[in-house]
Amino acid sequence: MGGTPDQTYAEVVLGRRSIRGYLDKPVPRALIEEVLAMAMRSPSSMNTQPYHFHVITGEPLDRIRKGNTERILAGEPDSREFRKGHPFQGVHRDRQVGCAIQLFEAMGIGRDDKEARQDWVLRGFRQFDAPVCVIVTYDKELSDADDTVFDCGAVTTALVNAAWSKGLGCVINSQGIMQSPVVREHAGIPEDQVIMKAVAMGWPDPDFPANPVKITRREVSEAARFVGFD
Ligand SMILES: Cc1cc2nc3c(=O)[nH]c(=O)nc-3n(C[C@H](O)[C@H](O)[C@H](O)COP(=O)(O)O)c2cc1C
Repeated sequence: MGGTPDQTYAEVVLGRRSIRGYLDKPVPRALIEEVLAMAMRSPSSMNTQPYHFHVITGEPLDRIRKGNTERILAGEPDSREFRKGHPFQGVHRDRQVGCAIQLFEAMGIGRDDKEARQDWVLRGFRQFDAPVCVIVTYDKELSDADDTVFDCGAVTTALVNAAWSKGLGCVINSQGIMQSPVVREHAGIPEDQVIMKAVAMGWPDPDFPANPVKITRREVSEAARFVGFD
């Protein structure tokens, strides 16, 4: 489970999937630094590199898990710092539901099993019990440019692929940063940065049922059109 050393680029990107169950095994700081250095070769608008990574483990991460869980169970409304947009509709809603069906089937979570569904959601707020969580932020000064969030997406995708190439698993997630004040406090995030996304990271648990799931994609022909080729 997870990537193995010396994979080709195609093996990394075609093999990677989001990992939501982790071994209770620490990740060496030097390995995370190596993976971040690879990710940071991503292009960014005018090379502005507007992102920051707050790499959290151990006791501070446990405090974030606890704070997130307490606030969710108390019914605290989410307080993420980016625009969420309206609820998904049409094809986007279909893909969202399709992804949930694939994961719930693998986990054996029934449609009406409210308790198991709640457990699954809370797992996300605990960062899937991963040993490491990387909070991706960006410079508030650049928050009026769409390129900034584009650059965060590029570097974060590169991060999960780089991690996979080293045998690590990740899941990019919004759940971990929905209660931004919790993350800001326990991770000590400066006020001049906007909290964008969380990335749970660790060694994939080969026995966790959702880990092997390959979430479907559209065909290239559905997403791309070619102009001037014939
Ligand atoms: C911006 C973004 C937010 C996401 N938020 C969550 C999340 O909150 N919880 C979760 O379990 N997965 C989350 N994911 C993971 C997606 O569900 C996953 O990438 C998608 O279903 C495709 O699956 P794959 O990564 O296994 O290929 C997120 C991914 C992205 C890029």
